[in-house]
Amino acid sequence: MEWVTAALLALLVPDCLAATRPNFVLLFADDLGYGDLGFSGHPSSLTPNLDRLAANGLRFTDFYVTSPVCSPSRASLLTGRYQTRSGIYPGVLYPGSRGGLPLNETTIAEVLKPLGYATAIMGKWHLGYGANGTYLPTRQGFDHYLGIPYSHDMGPCQNLTCFPPDVKCFGYCDQGVVTVPLMSLDTIIQQPVDFVNLDDAYRDFATRFIRTAAEAQQPFFLYYPSHHTHYPQFAGWKSVGRSLRGPFGDSLLEFDSTIGDILQTLDETGVLKNTLVFFTSDNGPELMRMSRGGNSGLLKCGKGTTYEGGMREPAIAYWPGVIKPGVTHSLSSTLDILPTFAKLAGAPLPKVQLDGVEMTDILFNHGPGKREAMFFYPTDPSEKYSVFAVRWGKYKAHYYTRGATHSGTTPDKDCSVFAFLRQHDPPLLFDLESDPSENYNLTLKNFPEWATVQNKIQDLKAAFEASMEFGESEIGKGTDPTLEPCCNPECSPKPKCCQCGTVGY
Ligand SMILES: *[C@@H]1O[C@H](CO)[C@@H](O)[C@H](O)[C@H]1NC(C)=O
Ligand SMILES: *[C@@H]1O[C@H](CO)[C@@H](O)[C@H](O)[C@H]1NC(C)=O
Ligand SMILES: *[C@@H]1O[C@H](CO)[C@@H](O)[C@H](O)[C@H]1NC(C)=O
Ligand SMILES: *[C@@H]1O[C@H](CO)[C@@H](O)[C@H](O)[C@H]1NC(C)=O
Repeated sequence: MEWVTAALLALLVPDCLAATRPNFVLLFADDLGYGDLGFSGHPSSLTPNLDRLAANGLRFTDFYVTSPVCSPSRASLLTGRYQTRSGIYPGVLYPGSRGGLPLNETTIAEVLKPLGYATAIMGKWHLGYGANGTYLPTRQGFDHYLGIPYSHDMGPCQNLTCFPPDVKCFGYCDQGVVTVPLMSLDTIIQQPVDFVNLDDAYRDFATRFIRTAAEAQQPFFLYYPSHHTHYPQFAGWKSVGRSLRGPFGDSLLEFDSTIGDILQTLDETGVLKNTLVFFTSDNGPELMRMSRGGNSGLLKCGKGTTYEGGMREPAIAYWPGVIKPGVTHSLSSTLDILPTFAKLAGAPLPKVQLDGVEMTDILFNHGPGKREAMFFYPTDPSEKYSVFAVRWGKYKAHYYTRGATHSGTTPDKDCSVFAFLRQHDPPLLFDLESDPSENYNLTLKNFPEWATVQNKIQDLKAAFEASMEFGESEIGKGTDPTLEPCCNPECSPKPKCCQCGTVGY
């Protein structure tokens, strides 16, 4: 009962008491799978802080992202809309991409800022850089930014140190582009970035941001899209060699330690009880990296595919005293975070077609929530093929299936890039409650309600498709090497002269 009361209080905060609006901390892992965490069964991951969040928060078992790759998944997280609307498809943005998340899209930061929220992002943006930094987070509602504007493997890494004292990064990463920059607001302060000390810089940034907001009694939104545990893994002195899981485990441990530092600052500044901390990951594990990729546990395949392993993610909502600890099996998604934060803050929703629904019934009552279905787009959505799969209730229908380069190397032949596009008419149908691994196609013979379920899903799919207006593809605008971020404005030709070490940091 006291939980309900606390929840109601949180919702009934009068508008004049700005200082009591809840704070939001959004933790976003990179390429971390359903089976990668200790609390979800991984035997050698070391994540004491995430375990603590899971034990004292609400853990989601059926939480989905909207894409099995980075940029589109992030676009949906920040806008509450499928990536097809904002044009963040096909694939991902590159350092020299002309496009980016359109500036007229409304992000969570832009929803909260007009209510007096301080807003900050640290880590991996990956929603565009563009001409002179047109698409940086500072143009999308974030007051503060420290981070890498895209994936940290999007630049040569063979000479860089990923683990102290001087263990070189594993592999080569992308060649022929500028080395990876570290940015503070719109300024490049390091190129190439120093991986070994990066999380310490994030910790200091987060500490300063939270302390400043707490002292000013200003509500805040901190978004931490981490580079962990994307390839090539890295970690600093505190985490190297400390997990039982090798480089991947050390990278995960470093992410976990930074989360621990954030929680400690929330506690020390007295704002923990007024802060909703939400954790999830952008897409499934990159199985092609083998032991340096993640693990999707009992789910099928991983990154790049519309099987469960590509798009179902671990998730936790933590708010001590307000969200009762437990487990929810309610269907929910990164799409739902914007409407949820908006509702809790008392902010109006953007006047656009949203795909998210607010989750307060799930968070405060452990109720069923409002989400009826989830639609699975491939990495290259098109009006011709539309969604590859649909989940409704416990059922999932696959209209198309395909493997992916990112998910190669597992014994399951359906995951590899050689599993070419295949249409299923009628769709494959799985009961994800009794068969979460998508092994056993429900048939007319063994499942009498087959036609009823199939028809219901078909109707939902048709209604969704009728509501979908594809935005112009931003990634289709292509790349221009002269747009790549460079610490040396005079540099020509790029990329060779874009190496400055640390400048003004
Ligand atoms: C943003 O602008 C583009 C181009 O004018 C338009 O097509 C799109 O619908 C707009 N998006 C939003 C969310 O307003
Ligand atoms: C970037 O800004 C500089 C200085 O204002 C300008 O000279 C240059 O043309 C701009 N580049 C692009 C691609 O817009
Ligand atoms: C890496 O180091 C080697 C040897 O010093 C050098 O030849 C090469 O250009 C470096 N590559 C990059 C991308 O910095
Ligand atoms: C799945 O089950 C449906 C309904 O019985 C059937 O029509 C379809 O051929 C099956 N697909 C596969 C690949 O087994």
